Amino acid sequence: MLPLTQRLGLRVPIVLAPMAGGVSTPDLVAAVSNAGGLGSVGAGYLKPEQIREAGPAVRRLTPGPFALNLFAPQSAVEPTQAALQRAVSELSPFHTALNLPPPTLPQHVSEDFEAQLEAVLEVGPAVLSFAFGRLNPGHLEALHARRILTIGTATGLEEARQLEADGVDTIVMQGGAAGGHRGGWLADELADTLALTRAAAQTIRVPLIAAGGLMTAADVRAVLDAGASLAQCGTAFLRAVEAGTSAPYREALAKAKAGDTVLTRAFSGRTARGLKNAAIAEIGQPLPYPFQNALTRQMRAAGAATNRADVLSLWAGEGVAQGREGTAAQILESLWS
Ligand SMILES: Cc1cc2nc3c(=O)[nH]c(=O)nc-3n(C[C@H](O)[C@H](O)[C@H](O)COP(=O)(O)O)c2cc1C
Repeated sequence: MLPLTQRLGLRVPIVLAPMAGGVSTPDLVAAVSNAGGLGSVGAGYLKPEQIREAGPAVRRLTPGPFALNLFAPQSAVEPTQAALQRAVSELSPFHTALNLPPPTLPQHVSEDFEAQLEAVLEVGPAVLSFAFGRLNPGHLEALHARRILTIGTATGLEEARQLEADGVDTIVMQGGAAGGHRGGWLADELADTLALTRAAAQTIRVPLIAAGGLMTAADVRAVLDAGASLAQCGTAFLRAVEAGTSAPYREALAKAKAGDTVLTRAFSGRTARGLKNAAIAEIGQPLPYPFQNALTRQMRAAGAATNRADVLSLWAGEGVAQGREGTAAQILESLWS
């Protein structure tokens, strides 16, 4: 079997982490692919028609390979009226401060995975990566029939074993330092990225991608030496000029110090790592995912539009203070020089 870099035609063993919610613009994805890495489109929140547009938009900017990323289907139980009331009353003061009407749960809380996957198959990217769970054999077969490499996400060894048994081609081992959502589905030990990579390399046969807190060339070198085939970096690219990161988010990132990130379910109902702010401090009884995500959407959009970092999900990893501004190519070069 050829090494992953060769199979994907990469000159640099680095994956731009998929970052749903507007960060991974076609410009950012293409810039990383053009510079020799693997760009990824965070398509988890995109409608099928938006996925059909995003693929060609990246292709217009790069002949290189890229990944689309989805959230694996999950069972979701409708929240009770009482739980909804509690979640609404926690969000209400923020809505009042933003001059928004009181929060309401929209009819449509998440995208239909089957329809998203259909769009991915039509676009035909080099890679489909996914988080939050497993795909069924039919999904994997359809992807493999179109020669799309599959990448699952594990936060521990048992999840990695399950993905390997499913026939997934490659596995992201996500350490506890990672920014954004925790990508697994079993109990999460928030493992050290390097230790997790080393342990997985001893038991998992498929190629591994290490993720979580990788901010420097030394960090990348260390995970490759520990047995990873590629390093996946998210936070390092948040301040790239090509990224869709909003102005208040960028400002908060620039000011962030080591120790400023926390794990929270406040914004989406799923645990994620981001910079502390007022919304995280005040929201203690979120609905489960994806309902809380839908309930907070209006607040987050208004916050981004009115420069209010206190109500935004400021996803960032523990390495945030080492982040820098620059073009994606410059940032990639700082990670692999
Ligand atoms: C803003 C942001 C959004 C993210 N969105 C996704 C996503 O849509 N899908 C996914 O698989 N991982 C997502 N992640 C997690 C990354 O894939 C990766 O695990 C993480 O960025 C690695 O840690 P680092 O941020 O310290 O580099 C996101 C991370 C960030 C920072």
